[in-house]
Amino acid sequence: MTPDARILLALRGTDRALAVSELAERVELTPGELAVRIDGLVVAGYGVELVPHIGYRLTATPDRIIADDLIARLARLALESEASGAAPGAMIGREILVFQETSSTNDVATRMAREGAGEGLTIFAEQQTAGRGRLGRRWASAAHEGLWFSIVLRPSQVGLEAGDWSRLTTWAAVGVARALEAALPGVRAAIKWPNDLYLNGRKAVGILIESVADTATGGFAVVGIGVNVNQMEFPTELADRATSLRLNQGQQGKLGSEPLDRQAVAVLLLRHLDALYSQIGSDFATIVAEAERRSVLVGRWVEIQTGCGVLRGEAMGLQPDGSLRIRGEDGVITSISGGEVSVAKW
Ligand code: BTN
Repeated sequence: MTPDARILLALRGTDRALAVSELAERVELTPGELAVRIDGLVVAGYGVELVPHIGYRLTATPDRIIADDLIARLARLALESEASGAAPGAMIGREILVFQETSSTNDVATRMAREGAGEGLTIFAEQQTAGRGRLGRRWASAAHEGLWFSIVLRPSQVGLEAGDWSRLTTWAAVGVARALEAALPGVRAAIKWPNDLYLNGRKAVGILIESVADTATGGFAVVGIGVNVNQMEFPTELADRATSLRLNQGQQGKLGSEPLDRQAVAVLLLRHLDALYSQIGSDFATIVAEAERRSVLVGRWVEIQTGCGVLRGEAMGLQPDGSLRIRGEDGVITSISGGEVSVAKW
């Protein structure tokens, strides 16, 4: 952990001001070195108050994604869960990099995975110039409004056979759904199969998983997640379909009044995804059951674009592998493993 992450971890652990000598000792710096680092944090936008004769207190955090801060917040959660007997988060987000601007975090993560990056490396960007979605679509990634990030996974290292990597789709959707509900108490996060997340009937999160097979290294997957957090409006072409967490937060009549702390949302996402990843091999049935409960398609008449034309039918549920079970108009049951599904209009 860097000195800044250690300082933020210590300052976030208490509401009281920490004596300079106590803080310096905890973060293993001299008081002079500590003062220099604190000045740097203030320049980065943190509010750090030096209360005379008492010590340092954290009073404000900038609305920026900062790797040291995410690491500190994850470490704080791990300490709290150890204290409460819960298993500490271990893998996803154990290394975090933040870019101010990049083409696509999936591109950066893929490049780093090819160069040997380990499981759990997570790449955030404040802005993507070529963010992409499923089926070759563009993904709008406005600066400082959302969370645009990609996680490197090596599923064979957790014992997932190549044939089971499609589980990542269901895992990511359920993990993100849990995190959204933790961020927005009282709001239900629904899944539009395979892994779009909807809040009150509009899309708030998209997930793009890209994998590379390689028998020598076991291959890797990059899980790219785009979360609309603080947008108050969207480009015209998305305006009637997209939403943000902010637009769903708060009491009726006051929706969207306050921006969310994007780093707090990021930590919830990483923590929930991490906790669920440990079940992906051993207890996938529970993850599928939750995805089915959260599904906006199950029980509805749907249309699916397939390679052989449009399939129409009733979405019956999810198969044990997470694929979608459809009973066609002719009564024949088919399992769909991917594609674009829409609720039928007839
Ligand atoms: C979709 O709904 O079609 C998937 C959207 C995925 C967007 C995220 S943002 C972070 C990562 N980088 C990308 O270029 N795409 C994913």
